[in-house]
Amino acid sequence: MTAPFFRTRITELFGIDHPILGGGLMWLSDARYVAALVNAGCMGFVTPRSFADDTAFAAALVQCRELTRGRPFGVNLTLSKRPEANTAVRRWMEIALAHGVRHFETAGYAPGELIGTLHAAGAVVLHKAPGLRHALAAERAGADAVALVGMEEGGHPGANELPTMLLGALAAEQLRVPVVLAGGIGHGRQLAAVLAQGLDGVLIGSRFLVAEEIATHPAYKRHLLDCDEQSTVRLLHTLGNTWRVLRNETAREVEAIERAGAADHAAFGTLIDGRATRDHCYAQGDWQRGMVSLGPSIAFARRIEPLAAIVAELLAQARASLARLPSLVSPVPEPA
Ligand SMILES: Cc1cc2nc3c(=O)[nH]c(=O)nc-3n(C[C@H](O)[C@H](O)[C@H](O)COP(=O)(O)O)c2cc1C
Repeated sequence: MTAPFFRTRITELFGIDHPILGGGLMWLSDARYVAALVNAGCMGFVTPRSFADDTAFAAALVQCRELTRGRPFGVNLTLSKRPEANTAVRRWMEIALAHGVRHFETAGYAPGELIGTLHAAGAVVLHKAPGLRHALAAERAGADAVALVGMEEGGHPGANELPTMLLGALAAEQLRVPVVLAGGIGHGRQLAAVLAQGLDGVLIGSRFLVAEEIATHPAYKRHLLDCDEQSTVRLLHTLGNTWRVLRNETAREVEAIERAGAADHAAFGTLIDGRATRDHCYAQGDWQRGMVSLGPSIAFARRIEPLAAIVAELLAQARASLARLPSLVSPVPEPA
């Protein structure tokens, strides 16, 4: 594991070695992947929705605790705009707390009602916000930190159409809690830029998908190595459910239906059912099928390798970038 080098408010808050978080990944943030993040000195979040039932989710927490040998790890709580769907989220929160989890990534809709319970249990809450207004609202609601995501994000970047870099500069002016940036980050020079902006770290999804510890079919991982920054597309914006995915057969079909003026999700049938992604792409390597969440930072992936090696490379790149900065600054002239 790379020795700690950067110390920020986020490394302090999460008790981690590096200012790098791995965002929750539907179907993929299992015990092995999250433990790999934690053992590499970062923070990861198990995604309860990925498991068949509560027993399987609880078993993953137990396994993660064993694999991390007591180091803290996190759980992702993605809230829905449909109140009935959040009954399960509250249950997952209780299960996680009962298993000793004290680090949470909330996402989707406002986490307000969960924050009180989580804080009362001594937990740390980072809210992932698709834009500045949501980030400020989460801060007011008591979130301990914010992950601000730009439109480059793989998965669901919300209705936000602004890029990560711009959001970062605005966040540095307006937010008081620790901020990590997410969306399109896959090279250490971007981590350096985030720190140079006065922010506290990065949250990554897509760049980590080629990690050995991600449980997907080798054929899909090999395809990821062929991807470049043009290999993803933003769809379903017109239905208020923006989704950045791999350009594949399914994406083309969905794009055509959307262009034809689809009025609701029913028009897409099972094309947008996440289980198709799990069963065809992740399990069988048929990457042409399913809405496969992915962002353009996949362009930085060159090898399938252990997660710790990706983290080490990001840190080395960030150090090299920051080492260049002092030589760019002219000495301040002596007063006359
Ligand atoms: C395959 C995949 C699945 C994701 N699933 C979830 C999820 O279930 N919940 C969530 O909050 N975010 C999810 N995300 C978003 C990530 O947690 C993270 O915010 C995002 O990947 C960061 O942007 P990047 O992909 O450009 O690095 C997913 C992203 C990807 C690529």
